[in-house]
Amino acid sequence: PVLVIDFGAQYAQLIARRVREAALYSEVVPHTMPVAEILAKRPAALILSGGPSSVYAEDAPGLEQALLEAGVPVFGICYGFQAMVRALGGTVEKTGLREYGNTNAEIADCSSTLFNGQPADQAVWMSHGDSVSAAPDGIRVTATTPGAAVAAIEDDERQLYGVQWHPEVLHSSFGQRVLENFLLRGARLEPNWTASAMAEELVAEVKQRVGAGRAICGLSGGVDSSVAGALVQKAIGDQLTCVFVDHGLLREGEAEQVEKDFVAATGVDLVVVDARQQFLDALAGVSDPEQKRKIIGREFIRTFERAARDIVSDRGDEQHPVEFLVQGTLYPDVVESGGGTGAANIKSHHNVGGLPDDLQFKLIEPLRSLFKDEVRQVGLELGVPEEIVWRQPFPGPGLGIRIIGAVTAERLEILRAADRIAREELTAAGLDRDIWQCPVVLLADVRSVGVQGDGRTYGHPIVLRPVSSEDAMTADWTRLPYDVLAKISGRITNEVSEVNRVTLDVTSKPPGTIEWE
Ligand code: XMP
Repeated sequence: PVLVIDFGAQYAQLIARRVREAALYSEVVPHTMPVAEILAKRPAALILSGGPSSVYAEDAPGLEQALLEAGVPVFGICYGFQAMVRALGGTVEKTGLREYGNTNAEIADCSSTLFNGQPADQAVWMSHGDSVSAAPDGIRVTATTPGAAVAAIEDDERQLYGVQWHPEVLHSSFGQRVLENFLLRGARLEPNWTASAMAEELVAEVKQRVGAGRAICGLSGGVDSSVAGALVQKAIGDQLTCVFVDHGLLREGEAEQVEKDFVAATGVDLVVVDARQQFLDALAGVSDPEQKRKIIGREFIRTFERAARDIVSDRGDEQHPVEFLVQGTLYPDVVESGGGTGAANIKSHHNVGGLPDDLQFKLIEPLRSLFKDEVRQVGLELGVPEEIVWRQPFPGPGLGIRIIGAVTAERLEILRAADRIAREELTAAGLDRDIWQCPVVLLADVRSVGVQGDGRTYGHPIVLRPVSSEDAMTADWTRLPYDVLAKISGRITNEVSEVNRVTLDVTSKPPGTIEWE
């Protein structure tokens, strides 16, 4: 594998994903892993990630010389670049100047290993305090930026390379090319990693972990849980039962779709649990978003526990209780729930931060290090139907976190109707693949005055939140055509009597998140 050594970066998994985009297998390992253990994984190349520390800080994670002398090609990024320079005898200066955001790199040699075939002037994305002021002896400096005299180094003989900027983010316009040049030209690797190889590897891992055990998979009908379910089904066959919890927070037609499309395509053993009243009761009177998320996460698990007991007793096989719970958790869910190294908890995704402490199951999350588009590729590989693979994301807590205010059966009905109309019109306009998703939000505690027919109304606003995104970590609001917006607005206010205003959310992420709660 190409190992990404994580120095506490927000971007370590993103780097691994970019490596996989270059068709090479990649894994992230913590910087605390001993050198011998790292080398025992027989890495084809090492990438040192960025990180929040200054190389001069007392507790700054170090880089052992031995890693640079093992004959494995190394590419340092940002903090990893500076740590590498220091270990090789160069100078990193504590400038106190911060260079943050977009800047331009001057490339000194456009035929070098890293920069071959690229322009001499390129936009790069920076985030650093210290700077390298002198390169180690015998190493070429191949780029500079206004804030960093030494912004890229290359040593073809020892196969050591590094850049001060972040090639993994899209703001670095030739970032992927720089990374690929390192992998293919610097480390001379042959691209061989494909979605089918990825699927096979994941299936094999699950098989090994579960052995002869029994598992259930919480199925929501969305892409992630469907792909996770199909993958585990492939690994352990009828040791798996899928459980679909109808929690009453679903959109119109969703429960039916799971039963029809997914079961038909995969032939999984499916149990449907009607838990609508249970969730409504648990959520009664609660309007705090984190509390809602925690309650929904907890009720999901309680329902799975009950279903697991029923499955076992139906089979008359009390000797073999269900040990594992399969979830379709993706990498972005993990990060945003505060699961990345040193990452802040933005919101508790129901399947990560919303889990109760006394969880009875061992979790299987085969997609935990993948991004949405990779999951889609794996899904196609496993024969999950296209209607499911290309579905837009829909959060596990469902409409529960799209009603701003307490959740009630009536409010759910209102939101379901408005959401159906928005989805119908977006589909009719052929926009489904252009937008990432379009949450429809009910401001249940807000009322405004309107006029309809000859009468005054005092109804609720609906918010449309169409967004474009690559991986849900960042997003922009989608510029939907006015006539589509007009159509949606007209239909919702006419057909849903409790709603008298439709508004458009024009906030990117950051500073907003995609969902309102
Ligand atoms: P935010 O609102 O954090 O959403 O910008 C990012 C993406 O994640 C989805 N989302 C969730 N998905 N469980 C999920 O399965 C959750 O608790 C959850 N919260 C948000 C959201 O729809 C968007 O695609």
